[in-house]
Amino acid sequence: MALKDVLHDIEGYDELEREIEILRKYGPDHVERAEEAARIMAVLHPPRLSLKVSEIIEETPSTKTLRLVSAKGDLLPPFMAGQYVNLFVERDGVRTSRPYSISSSPTQTAYYDITVRAVEDGFVSRLLLEDTRPGDVFESTSPAGTFTHNPLFHGDDLVFLAGGSGITPFMSMIRETADRGLDRKILLVYGSRDPGDIVFKDELERIAARRKNIAVHHVISEPPEGYTGLAGFITADLVKRLAGDVTGKTFYVCGPAAMYERCLAELASLGLPRKRVRTEAYGPPKNVTAQAGWPKHVSADDVFTVKISGGRVLSAKAGEPLMVSLEKAHIQIPAQCRSGECSLCRTKLLSGTVFHPEGARLRKSDRQFGYIHPCVAYPLEDLEILI
Ligand SMILES: Cc1cc2nc3c(=O)[nH]c(=O)nc-3n(C[C@H](O)[C@H](O)[C@H](O)COP(=O)(O)OP(=O)(O)OC[C@H]3O[C@@H](n4cnc5c(N)ncnc54)[C@H](O)[C@@H]3O)c2cc1C
Ligand code: FES
Repeated sequence: MALKDVLHDIEGYDELEREIEILRKYGPDHVERAEEAARIMAVLHPPRLSLKVSEIIEETPSTKTLRLVSAKGDLLPPFMAGQYVNLFVERDGVRTSRPYSISSSPTQTAYYDITVRAVEDGFVSRLLLEDTRPGDVFESTSPAGTFTHNPLFHGDDLVFLAGGSGITPFMSMIRETADRGLDRKILLVYGSRDPGDIVFKDELERIAARRKNIAVHHVISEPPEGYTGLAGFITADLVKRLAGDVTGKTFYVCGPAAMYERCLAELASLGLPRKRVRTEAYGPPKNVTAQAGWPKHVSADDVFTVKISGGRVLSAKAGEPLMVSLEKAHIQIPAQCRSGECSLCRTKLLSGTVFHPEGARLRKSDRQFGYIHPCVAYPLEDLEILI
């Protein structure tokens, strides 16, 4: 049977064809407007931004906020509280990138604040915290990400569970709620190692004191002697104690991979439906070999060869995301979330096996047809990939 005949068997196809005919005959000529649409798209979603550091604000001994403005003097694209930009940097001859959530309120589009916490021997965080000065310019993606709040789907009774630098998307949401006087109930439970590590402490307390709908609780995992506040980790018991009945509440969890995994396990014990728990993991796990499902016979330091269709061959460590090994070999592939979520780095695996940790959101069809997300794919043997 010819394709044309098959199409007519699809329900609605004939109506659609008729509609297209009518629009061709009587409708406006959208081709004429294509340029206008492209101009608007370029303002709202430019593929790349050029951002200049206008100010550096010291938040805690280990955390700074970089205030970023347009290097070209343009208005920055609007964003939703909870979104991030992926910042491209060059260090030691390696071009790489890291996503940072925007911590400022979306009510302010003259700048984006990103708030960076030091990571021990961190390749990029060290560069941003130690070697960056006002006037430095970085390239980034436009704001992206789905860790946002939509009152239609997520309601207006929200519980935020933050760990360390994972406070940043919540800070944007809390600032927006306070700025706009939104009628939204927010309970923030924020885990930090010690009281000196709490980012935005004074501002959070000021907002909570002024807004009855916003409550803030700090939980300290390594409390100093004599500390009288909440201590330990964020557990299901603690959440129940602070939030009360969880029915109808939407939970948001954000923080380093270890905190995020622990919190999800705790929330599971509360019997919350999965759609009531929204998550953002801050990048690949620190030690992937400790993840469930990692094969015991492969160690983090094992080195495999990666053949790229077209001939190049490089070495890749089992314990390092494939994207990092590619970048170290000066091979760039598209990247945005660097945590397995956005699919932008999707790459065809021609041979070999990789390990994807739990949180990697590969589509079923990706798994079926051999596509991997190199930002969170770890080689388990020699590979061949198509890029
Ligand atoms: C959506 C999202 C939002 C985030 N928001 C924030 C935020 O608001 N604040 C914040 O502090 N952090 C945030 N992060 C984490 C941030 O993106 C970085 O992971 C963090 O700053 C640590 O990066 P690093 O390079 O310093 O650390 P590293 O541990 O050095 O780098 C992390 C990764 O880089 C690799 N790497 C190591 N050496 C090299 C090298 N030579 N070349 C290339 N790669 C190398 C490592 O293998 C590792 O996979 C966010 C992450 C995500 C996914
Ligand atoms: S960069 Fe988003 S899935 Fe890899």
